[in-house]
Amino acid sequence: MEYINLVNGGLAQIKPYQAGKPIEEVQRELGLKEVVKLASNENPFGVSPKALEAMQKKLEFCNFYPDSNGFYLKQKLHDKFGYNTDMITLGAGSNELINLIFQAFVNDKVNVVIPRYSFVVYPMDATICNAKIKYVDLESDYSLDLNKLYAAIDENTRMVVIANPSNPIGTAVGYKELKEFIYKVKEDTLIVIDEAYNEFCEDDNYEDSYNFIKDKPNLVVSRTFSKAYGLAGLRIGYMLANSEISSILNRLRAPFNVNDIAFSAAIAALDDDMFLDKVVKSNNEQRKVYEDFAKEHSIYMIKSQANFVTYDFKQDAAPIYEYLLKHGVIVRPLAAYNLPTMLRISIGTKEQNALFFKHLSDYLQQIK
Ligand SMILES: Cc1ncc(COP(=O)(O)O)c(C=O)c1O
Repeated sequence: MEYINLVNGGLAQIKPYQAGKPIEEVQRELGLKEVVKLASNENPFGVSPKALEAMQKKLEFCNFYPDSNGFYLKQKLHDKFGYNTDMITLGAGSNELINLIFQAFVNDKVNVVIPRYSFVVYPMDATICNAKIKYVDLESDYSLDLNKLYAAIDENTRMVVIANPSNPIGTAVGYKELKEFIYKVKEDTLIVIDEAYNEFCEDDNYEDSYNFIKDKPNLVVSRTFSKAYGLAGLRIGYMLANSEISSILNRLRAPFNVNDIAFSAAIAALDDDMFLDKVVKSNNEQRKVYEDFAKEHSIYMIKSQANFVTYDFKQDAAPIYEYLLKHGVIVRPLAAYNLPTMLRISIGTKEQNALFFKHLSDYLQQIK
C-alpha cells in the first residue's frame, strides 16, 4: 500500500519544507566556534526585554490551556492600532493564517494569482488545494507591476496574494499604487497582502492597509511577530479581515492554536516601542551598508525594503555560499527558487554584517 496515493488534493506533489541549517549543526559539522546565521530573516537583536519578562511570568501556568480567543492580545491590538477585535484572527505564525485562508477559499475549480518568486508557502498551499496557479513575471529590476498583476485576474481567480515587502526578493510595491490596485479588484477575488516585513518598509505614502477593509471586504492582511518583534520561535501572527471572513477563519483554526507564552510576549512586545525602533533603525541603516558594499564590489543588489537583501552575482552562487558557510556565515541560496546566481542575506547586527562583508571580500579577491 502506498499511502501517498491516498492523500487529498495536490499534497502528493509537495516536498517537505527545507529550513536553513541550525547554527549548532554547522558548528559541529565544520568544527567552527563562531557561526553567524543570516539565513532566516530572524531578528538579530534577540527578544525584547519586556517580552522576556512577561513570558517568564507565564511559565508556571503552563498546566492550563491557553485563552482560545486571545482576548488580551486582540484588545491590545485594538488599543494600539484601533483594530476592531472582530476583524482579527490570531495564528501560530502568519504562516498558519495563510494556510487557513487557502484552506477556506481555494479549490480545484479556481485559480490563484501570485507574483513570480513569491514566498514558497503560497504555491505550496495552492498546490495542496489543487488550484491552478497563475504566475505574474516581475520587471527586469525584480519589482512588481501591479497593472500586470491586475491583468492576470480573471473570472476564476479566487485569490491574489502579494507579500509587501516580498520574500525572497525584498522589493515592495508603493502604498499608493497598492491602494489603487486594492480598490480596483472585484469583491469575489480575495486580495491577501502579506505584511510580514511591513515594519522595515520606508514609504512616505504609507497607510495602514487595515483602513481599506471597510470599503473592500475582500481584503485580507497578515502580520507577524516573528520579524521586527523578534518572536519567531514562539509562532504568533495575526490576520486582519472583515468580520465575516475572520469568523470563517476562526471556525477553521484549532481551538488552542496559539499558546499563552506567545500571547503574553506579543502583548509586551507591542508595549516595547524602544526595542522595535532600535531594530528597525539598525536594519534600515545596515541595509544601506549592504547597498554600498554591493556597489563597491559591482554586485547587483535588488532594491530591498525588508530585513534581508538579495545579491545577484551573475554567476553560480553555490561556491560563494559554500565558502561563506566554511567561514561560519550561513546565508540562503536561492537555487530552489530557480535563482541560482543569487544569495539572500538576512541583515544582522553591524558586527555580524561586518563578518559577512569580510569573508565575501576575501572570496571575491581570491577569484579575481
Ligand atoms: C513573506 C512571508 N510571509 C510570512 C512568513 C511567515 O512568518 P511567520 O509564520 O513566522 O509569521 C514569512 C517567513 O519568513 C515570510 O517571509
